[in-house]
Amino acid sequence: MKALIMAGGSGTRLWPLSREKYPKQFLKIFEEKSLLRLTYERLLRLLDHRDIIIATSKEYEYHVRNDLYPYDGYSLILEPERKNTGPTVLLGLLFALEKLSSSEDEVFFVIPSDHYIQPEERYLDYLRFAQKVAKMGYVVAFGIKPSHPDTNFGYIKLGEKLLSEGEAVAYNMERFVEKPSYQLAQDFLRDGSYMWNSGNFAFTIKVGLEEIKINASHMWELSGESFGVMIENYSKLPEIAFDYMQMEKTKRGAVIPMDIVWSDVGSFEGLYRVLPSNHKGNVHVGDTLCLDSENTLAYSTDRLVALIGVRDVAVVEERDAVLVLSRDASHKVKDLVNHLISMG
Ligand code: GDD
Ligand code: MG
Repeated sequence: MKALIMAGGSGTRLWPLSREKYPKQFLKIFEEKSLLRLTYERLLRLLDHRDIIIATSKEYEYHVRNDLYPYDGYSLILEPERKNTGPTVLLGLLFALEKLSSSEDEVFFVIPSDHYIQPEERYLDYLRFAQKVAKMGYVVAFGIKPSHPDTNFGYIKLGEKLLSEGEAVAYNMERFVEKPSYQLAQDFLRDGSYMWNSGNFAFTIKVGLEEIKINASHMWELSGESFGVMIENYSKLPEIAFDYMQMEKTKRGAVIPMDIVWSDVGSFEGLYRVLPSNHKGNVHVGDTLCLDSENTLAYSTDRLVALIGVRDVAVVEERDAVLVLSRDASHKVKDLVNHLISMG
C-alpha cells in the first residue's frame, strides 16, 4: 500500500492567511499544525513513513520539509512546474514503481493535503475498506453527502451496490462531473443520487497506469513510462486536473460514501463552519475579544482583534493586511485577490 499526498496547490481563497507563496496546505489552522502535517499524521496510522510520497512544486519544498521536520523516511517529489493533479498522479505512480520497488498489485491512495477530516479513525476505516474495492479492479472515489449546490466540487452519481462491510458500502460510479455549472449542481442535488467528490482516490498501481494510458494517451507517451523522462518532459505536459483527465472518463469507477465531518476549508465560511463556536455562534482564533456580537469569525495571527456589536462578519488579521468580510460574501475573496494582482 502506498499513498500520494498532493501538496502543490496554490489557492488564495483564504487571503490574507493563504498566499501564492504560502498556500492553504501550510496554514496552521487546527491544533497549531499545518493541514499538510495533520494529513501526514492521519495517514501514519495506516501506513509507514516509507509508504508515503508527497508531491509538491519546487517552490514549496522548504514548507513541506519544515512542516514535517519531526519525520523522515517519506519520499518527496518536486515537480519542476505546476501542472495540476493529473500529471502529479502519473508521476507518483511511476515513482512508486521505480524508486520504491512497488508491486503493480499494490493499492495506491491519492490524498489531498488541505482538508479537515473528523473523526479520523472512521475516515481511515473507509480507506481500509477501499483497498478491497481497489483490488477488485475499480478506480475508487469517496463521496460526501452534499449540503448545497457548490460548483467547486466534483459530483458523483451512485449506481448499483458492489460490496459492503459493516457500515461501509461501495457503489458503482455511474457518472462523474467535475465542477458543474450552478444550474447542473442544483439538478444533481434535486436528483438525490449524487454526492460530492472528496478528492481522495484509491486504485491498484496497475489499474492506475492502465487507465491513464487509455484516458490520457498524450501524457502517457510524454512520460516515456519513466519517472526521469516524465520530469524532463514536464514543461510539455498538458495542465489538467486528475478529475477531468481520469475520473470523468473512467469506465470502472466505484464510490464509497463517507459519513464523516469533511471540509475542504475552501473559504472563511467553510472555516467558520468547522471551527468550534461559543454559545453566541462566535468563532475566535488567536488574540481576540468580542462584545455583543453574534455569529462572527475573529481570526488574529499577530495583533488583538476586538469586535463590538456586529453580526455575521469575519475579521481576519495578518501582520500586513486585515480583511473585514460579510460572512455570506466569503466566496468573493478570490475576486479581491484578482483585483490586488491586477493592481500589481
Ligand atoms: N503536487 C501537486 N501539484 N499538488 C497539487 C497541484 C499540483 O500541480 N495542484 C493541486 N494540488 C493539490 C492541492 O494542494 C490539493 O491538496 C489537491 O491537490 C486538490 O487540488 P485542488 O486544486 O484543491 O482541487 P479542487 O479543490 O479544486 O478540486 C478537487 O477537490 C474537490 C474536493 O475538495 C477535485 O477532486 C474535486 O472533484 C473535489 O470535489
Ligand atoms: Mg481543494
